[in-house]
Amino acid sequence: MRIVVMGAGSMGCLLGGYLARAGHRVFLVDPLTERTEAIESDGITVEGVGGDFEVEASAGSIYAGDAPPDLVLVCVKAYDTAAAANDIAEFLGADTVVLTLQNGVGNIERLAYTLPREQLLAGTTSLGANLLGPGRVHHAGEGKTHIGDVYPERSDRAEKIAAVFTEARLPAVAADDIHELVWNKLAVNVGINALTALLRVRNGRILAAEGATKILEPAVAECIAVAEESGVSLDPETVMARVKDVARRTASNRSSMLMDILGGRRTEIDAINGAVVHRGRELGVAVPVNETLTHLVHALESLREHREK
Ligand code: PAF
Repeated sequence: MRIVVMGAGSMGCLLGGYLARAGHRVFLVDPLTERTEAIESDGITVEGVGGDFEVEASAGSIYAGDAPPDLVLVCVKAYDTAAAANDIAEFLGADTVVLTLQNGVGNIERLAYTLPREQLLAGTTSLGANLLGPGRVHHAGEGKTHIGDVYPERSDRAEKIAAVFTEARLPAVAADDIHELVWNKLAVNVGINALTALLRVRNGRILAAEGATKILEPAVAECIAVAEESGVSLDPETVMARVKDVARRTASNRSSMLMDILGGRRTEIDAINGAVVHRGRELGVAVPVNETLTHLVHALESLREHREK
């Protein structure tokens, strides 16, 4: 398969690396030339729980393949989704499938604004990955990927892509209700990401501090209430247990938001806790804990140069 990966960050390199090793022709698109040049000359290096390997891949700031790809994986940060959609529109073929595995809500809608909805798939993954350097990624945690159709009419594409992932040793299954999946994953990110970034700890640590769980629980409860008002019914006990289970299973992971704060980059707070606030306000659901977390992370982003050691 010809596969284009939008974004050569941790998830892009992890998925691109595994899929290239399975024999697919992988091309990574990223605006950072230090990333694309490193991948062009040295390929992708993966280290971690699935073993260590190096594999060749192509890369550039725009897709330079000689035919439209069969599959596009959207692995850019949520705030870059609209720009990625415009880039994809330039090389999309009639049979190309576009799959978003991004964190947060709103990505499907942003992609569907520019690209044909019937060519879109969406999914969630609990794979853990940290970027070690350009083209070099640490595979920090195993986890399942769920893939489903965005278009209400179900096709066999989700099953096909899930099989491609599974054959590449990235266990994946097709899912029926993509919106339920996205909100379930949002609850995980709402509970873990901002707290780990603010406290500067790995995922597992937030369960060890009572003060942290006292914030995690109402933040996740607000997310569940907003999902309910949006028409997605989630079981509060199951969701709360899952959020804590993910924190436990990815205990040694630095969350993507912590990595962004440590790297001095913008975070995805607006697509995670900020999205709960935005939708909560629209739907008349009280979201004070997510509001506070969102303000704190925004403050952390803007005060980065003024922090005391
Ligand atoms: O954003 C992340 O870091 C991941 O989605 C998760 C599941 C919280 C693991 O670190």
